[in-house]
Amino acid sequence: MKILLTGADGQLGHSIRKNPPTEGQMISLNSKEFDITDPAKTDEIFEKYKPDVVINAAAYTAVDKAEEEEQKARAVNALAVKFLSEKCRQKNAFLIHISTDYVFDGKSATPYNETDKINPINIYGKTKAEGEQAIIRSKAHYAILRTSWVFSEFGSNFFKTMMKIGADKKHLKVVSDQIGAPTYSGDIATAISALIEHKDDISGDIFHFCGDEITNWADFARFIFNEAFEQGKLPHSVEIEDILSKDYKVAAKRPKNSVLDCKKINTLCDIKLSDWRGAVRKILSEHY
Ligand SMILES: NC(=O)c1ccc[n+]([C@@H]2O[C@H](COP(=O)([O-])OP(=O)(O)OC[C@H]3O[C@@H](n4cnc5c(N)ncnc54)[C@H](OP(=O)(O)O)[C@@H]3O)[C@@H](O)[C@H]2O)c1
Repeated sequence: MKILLTGADGQLGHSIRKNPPTEGQMISLNSKEFDITDPAKTDEIFEKYKPDVVINAAAYTAVDKAEEEEQKARAVNALAVKFLSEKCRQKNAFLIHISTDYVFDGKSATPYNETDKINPINIYGKTKAEGEQAIIRSKAHYAILRTSWVFSEFGSNFFKTMMKIGADKKHLKVVSDQIGAPTYSGDIATAISALIEHKDDISGDIFHFCGDEITNWADFARFIFNEAFEQGKLPHSVEIEDILSKDYKVAAKRPKNSVLDCKKINTLCDIKLSDWRGAVRKILSEHY
């Protein structure tokens, strides 16, 4: 089985390469080697590698910048995904595509399940939702894996930003009125591997996968700083002051509730949700 990974130098791409699917031979291509917005290149890559499985970890992920770069975001998150899924359909390849909690508006009082109505409130979410819909319309053999609040030792993410800021500051204001479940990208790689193992049980479906405990950004930051201080990875403790989203000015609106209900993937693959607290401890001890 040949598995083609796109976006191989991104945060998740790195994690998948570090923790690859248990079966099959991986072909990992970064944005320079395979620009998914280039249809001719997509044809060429499929001809050359003849993948049985495609993991699309490529995406335009700059949530705030997307508000002013809608066309760029759409080109990667929607138009390229349409082309990729149609190619997978033509060539009978199983497509695993990564999507996001940001396809929801965050107004639900309970965790979102896979059949809940999508209603994105920012451009990034809108383009990711368009990508999902293109895959569904393509009739390819697919699994769309929605996840949330991704962090790891790789790339840019909230955990790494906090550690950078915490090196200089002893006091920080962090938003506390958005709830979600942080997800370690190494655990997403494990979930992808499980989906590949169960590919014959999936005809075309959406799955949710995220962390095992709900928190908010301020408490997530508190946990990171407390652990870092306890492990001696920061010279001082950092005090977090809760603030409301309305008092923290960013270009894109964020959903208030980003929590995903992950029962469906658990039932199919019997995998554990992401132990994000354990992952924070491990990253700190191994990489700082
Ligand atoms: N990060 C989160 O909190 C989060 C939350 C929920 C869902 N997700 C989803 O998880 C997936 C992985 O995200 P991530 O955190 O790994 O993001 P990331 O670190 O930004 O990685 C995305 C990768 O895609 C590549 N890329 C961009 N345009 C491309 C193109 N036209 N052709 C090929 N590759 C291209 C980027 O390469 P360059 O850097 O060279 O442009 C980058 O390596 C995405 O689908 C994202 O929507 C992320």
